Amino acid sequence: MSGVFAGLVRPAYRSVRRTATAVLFERRYGVRTDEVVPLDAFGLEHAERERYGATGWLTLRAILPRRTVTADDVFVDLGSGMGRVVLQAAMMYPFRRVLGVEIAGDLHRIAEANIAANRHRLAGRDVSLVHADVLDFEIPDDVTVAFLYNPFLGSIFRTVVDRLVESVDRNPRRLRIVYGNPREEEALLATGRCRPVRTLPGLRPGREWSRSNSWRLYEVLPRPAGERG
Ligand SMILES: C[S@@+](CC[C@H](N)C(=O)[O-])C[C@H]1O[C@@H](n2cnc3c(N)ncnc32)[C@H](O)[C@@H]1O
Repeated sequence: MSGVFAGLVRPAYRSVRRTATAVLFERRYGVRTDEVVPLDAFGLEHAERERYGATGWLTLRAILPRRTVTADDVFVDLGSGMGRVVLQAAMMYPFRRVLGVEIAGDLHRIAEANIAANRHRLAGRDVSLVHADVLDFEIPDDVTVAFLYNPFLGSIFRTVVDRLVESVDRNPRRLRIVYGNPREEEALLATGRCRPVRTLPGLRPGREWSRSNSWRLYEVLPRPAGERG
């Protein structure tokens, strides 16, 4: 796509999407999630940490079919921002527990307000928001769906993926990883333990824009029998 075309199409697309999100999600649920906020707004900028931007409000149900989630499942959004996906996971699925972890205190507090505004829609669902750097967060060994919308890169990403795999080794179970704008997919596949099982292609003109809108669902494979200690 030529630069001029991209320069015209992208802002128009974003403006239509923002209007639809405002009417169909933000106003409907009385929440504030549809912003883009760089982490330097909070003095938290770091080469491996990504800015806040919310997952499209139709994405979760497309990449994670509701019928594949049961009341035994536990969801965590690693880098939960203003809590859009935490709210959707708690409202739309039968998860036993829903967690969100966010490094920026201001975003974490907005997420708390968004959840509080919708308590009556959560049917007593167990929802916890944790204000922490993901590196200081101990991933619970009962998590079965880990959600990552391009929250971090490089060594932070590899550490988190290693911890998810280690968690399955400690407590063998079906663990799925949802990954949006999967910039670090190679690192995920390099573990030899993550198998893609579903893809939502970005379907946008141009390679970069397409990737930034694409989503993958992976399953963490059990440790091979010969490697069990
Ligand atoms: C692209 S946003 C995704 C927000 C949310 N998960 C969603 O999909 O709507 C990435 C989020 O990850 C957070 N983040 C980045 N590095 C982090 C870290 N080390 N620990 C916890 N959160 C982090 C950012 O502050 C940001 O809110």
